[in-house]
Amino acid sequence: VRIYVPRDSAARSVGADEVAATIQQAADSADLAIDLARTGSRGMLWLEPLVEVATEHGRIGYGPVTPDDVPALLTAGLLDGGEHPLRLGPVDELPWLARQNRVTFARVGVIDPLDADDYLRHGGLTGLRTALKLTPADVVAEVTDSGLRGRGGAGFPAGIKWKTVSDCPGELKFICCNADEGDSGTFADRMLMEGDPFLLIEGMTIAAHAVGAREGYLYIRSEYPDAVATMRAAIDTARDRGWLGTSVLGTPLDFDLHVRVGAGAYICGEETSMLESLEGKRGMVRAKPPIPAIEGLFGKPTVVNNVLTLATVPVVLAQGAKAYQELGVDRSRGTQVFQLGGNIARGGIVETAFGITLRELIEDYGGGTRSGRPVRTAQVGGPLGAYLPPSSFDLPMDYEAFAAAGAMVGHGGIVVFDDTVDMAAQARFAMEFCAAESCGKCTPCRVGSVRGVEVIDKIVAGEQRDENLALLDDLCELMTEGSLCAMGGLTPLPVRSALTHFADDFLEEAAD
Ligand code: NAI
Ligand code: SF4
Repeated sequence: VRIYVPRDSAARSVGADEVAATIQQAADSADLAIDLARTGSRGMLWLEPLVEVATEHGRIGYGPVTPDDVPALLTAGLLDGGEHPLRLGPVDELPWLARQNRVTFARVGVIDPLDADDYLRHGGLTGLRTALKLTPADVVAEVTDSGLRGRGGAGFPAGIKWKTVSDCPGELKFICCNADEGDSGTFADRMLMEGDPFLLIEGMTIAAHAVGAREGYLYIRSEYPDAVATMRAAIDTARDRGWLGTSVLGTPLDFDLHVRVGAGAYICGEETSMLESLEGKRGMVRAKPPIPAIEGLFGKPTVVNNVLTLATVPVVLAQGAKAYQELGVDRSRGTQVFQLGGNIARGGIVETAFGITLRELIEDYGGGTRSGRPVRTAQVGGPLGAYLPPSSFDLPMDYEAFAAAGAMVGHGGIVVFDDTVDMAAQARFAMEFCAAESCGKCTPCRVGSVRGVEVIDKIVAGEQRDENLALLDDLCELMTEGSLCAMGGLTPLPVRSALTHFADDFLEEAAD
């Protein structure tokens, strides 16, 4: 009997390791032969630890399971998918999962992430094998035609970025994967790396073939030790199997990959800062131009893409640009891996085509707040994203629609707040966060963020309110227009959206 328990760090944080150990011990002492596999997480985080058992009716889920539940589960028939109060039924048929369109996350939670054969059995390497039969220019064209845009947040067309690198002369080029996922409320990169690491390796290898790179770097934040360990183990296996190295899959492609671990700075998620850090320097933002595609790592042409962008490429190659391009709306093609977090009843990963509304994500998938109180706002796109009120929840998830509404889809993180949230405090936090994480290179961000905290404090204290509100508006304008990178440039987004939609919160203390 094959039993699956996630090894994803979200599942481990709520006791998945203890549950797995208890199942193994109980089976051993009862002389039951079980084959315990550790998988990634299905992304239904409120059900973790989610235990699944393979039956002739598919994989039957039980959750959330504690070690104390294990003896009763085993006697009640866990081994044949039998009845128990924690039984959820066939996992693939759970509405939350069945309604999604798992493209990039198709294997996450399904396979043993470090079992290369399991990867192959589930279609692994199909994209790379297809790519290796194409010319580099055709691979770039395929990625361009798919409409795939950078999933890190900015949404720049991946194929055009690759073409810029591929058109650069020179032998030495690099592929850098940005896995510094620093946005609050985002965890899709981590779950992908922990749940399907060979997919990312495959995507980076396809990129190498497409642009003519021989070396790749995977920059992972230090807060993700499980992802670091999983990726390192997967890279070792890929080398042993000839999926990386001087002759990838027996072809002339020569490509190898290295993991580098960050040191806890949010700004190292900004691409040029990440390159500085990879070069062994302090993570300071570089002025652009030149863009990294032309002068990147060690001054050489470099593809810098987010984990999800690179992990989607094998699917594009395997299924064809057309199939991917058919999903989505307008210029937002394909799927986005949305991450539901904060005060939400059912948090986790929802991968669907672009065009789904925020309301569907928060209410239908998320089930509203965990506290049971009314939803007051959701911040979309990380700490630099706008706070949206429920009246905006019918906005479709679409890069351009969000931009037109003064917001951003970003990396797809959605953090929900109930009606107890103090929006003046959230606005202050945005400035405070910027002050703490600013690299210090330019004045609007370095000094502006500190002044921003002060001026918000004065506003809520009722000190010269009108003058200080005008000053804050001015400061936001200056930071937006004058900052060198998105850190200072986007911090006004949460501040201004809080002021626009929740102006009363800035009055409270004054009224008191
Ligand atoms: P950007 O718009 O300056 O650049 C986007 C990408 O396109 C960059 O890689 C840039 O080098 C590239 N590019 C631009 N023109 C190009 C050309 N002609 N040819 C080839 N490549 C070209 O945006 P930026 O500053 O890189 O990212 C800002 C975004 O980052 C924000 O919108 C935010 O959503 C996101 N973000 C994501 C975080 C995360 O944890 N994933 C954290 C913080 C911000
Ligand atoms: Fe550095 Fe902030 Fe300027 Fe970006 S905006 S370069 S983080 S000081």
